[in-house]
Amino acid sequence: MIYITRREQFNAAHKLFREEWSDEKNMEVFGKCSNPNWHGHNYELFVTVKGEINPETGFVIDLKTLKDIIRRYITDKLDHKNVNLDVDFMKGKMASTEVLAVEIFNELKTHLGEREVTLHKVKLVETENNFVEYYGEQPD
Ligand code: NI
Repeated sequence: MIYITRREQFNAAHKLFREEWSDEKNMEVFGKCSNPNWHGHNYELFVTVKGEINPETGFVIDLKTLKDIIRRYITDKLDHKNVNLDVDFMKGKMASTEVLAVEIFNELKTHLGEREVTLHKVKLVETENNFVEYYGEQPD
């Protein structure tokens, strides 16, 4: 078993807020992340898949195939968009890095479909100092 990772980037706006909460409570819980007029991040997305090396090609997966899937289903939908308002798979969800990483993982798992590789991890970097890693639902 070998692991291979593709890195992609996107720029997107978001805010952390709950509509049913007052502005004061949102500010108290989410701080400047709940700025009413949004704010943006330069996100980095690392997608790791695992599989066996194909003896003919020497590849686990053609990285162009992986890149095309990530762009089509994830980063093209997020890049220069508003995570709260524009992204189909984030509708009605909190636009936190944690939730975004989980939803990206679930979307990729669906769109990778039946293939020679399995999705292993999504790492989503929001800032230089903050990132999330998600490995899918793990048995306890
Ligand atoms: Ni933010």
